[in-house]
Amino acid sequence: MTKETDWEERYQQEDTPWDKDEPAPGLIDWLNKQTLAPETRVLVPGCGRGHDPSAWAKRGFETTGMDLSEIALSDARQKYETLPNLAFFPGNFLEEKPQEPYDLIFEHTLYCAIEPARRDEYAQALNHWLKPGGLFLAIHFVFPLTEEGPPFGASKEEIIERFEPGFELLNDWKPRHFEGRRDEEWMFLWKRKV
Ligand SMILES: C[S@@+](CC[C@H](N)C(=O)[O-])C[C@H]1O[C@@H](n2cnc3c(N)ncnc32)[C@H](O)[C@@H]1O
Repeated sequence: MTKETDWEERYQQEDTPWDKDEPAPGLIDWLNKQTLAPETRVLVPGCGRGHDPSAWAKRGFETTGMDLSEIALSDARQKYETLPNLAFFPGNFLEEKPQEPYDLIFEHTLYCAIEPARRDEYAQALNHWLKPGGLFLAIHFVFPLTEEGPPFGASKEEIIERFEPGFELLNDWKPRHFEGRRDEEWMFLWKRKV
């Protein structure tokens, strides 16, 4: 059994190699083509310093970034405070529930960050945070799962098996990636079953 990661400590020590100081390239490409209703409310759980939520907010969507780490959120607020439709709040995606579920959840390097034993809880949490019929857009790390992590890898098959009971898979593809993450990422677009 691996030790739970102390995310606040990782930010405190600036030990954050995942942070590329910009939104994920695969997200940018998807946003360039999307045809979502402008009133779509977006949640980005495990948002870190807020780069991905900022990309949603810059397209005009009411966006919320959520993370366990107060330091990450403080940095996010400082960097993106000029975007009026972007808010950040501290929370545990696996353990809390929203007052009102969201229309869309975007995930990038949260599934690979949590303990693999908690992946079913993650799938359950989606049902709390996302409306029936809502969209779940995800960039997952796909490489073999080992005891070392985070990041903890996953196979495409495992991901599909986990989410298929509650979601319809609309599309999956290899996204444009950050340098150094070649062949490591796969993107999925799901619709929560009603
Ligand atoms: C690998 S980092 C990725 C951050 C961001 N998505 C990025 O790509 O820059 C994982 C993030 O998830 C957060 N996190 C881990 N478990 C969480 C949970 N249960 N609820 C909310 N955030 C969580 C951590 O604090 C950390 O910021």
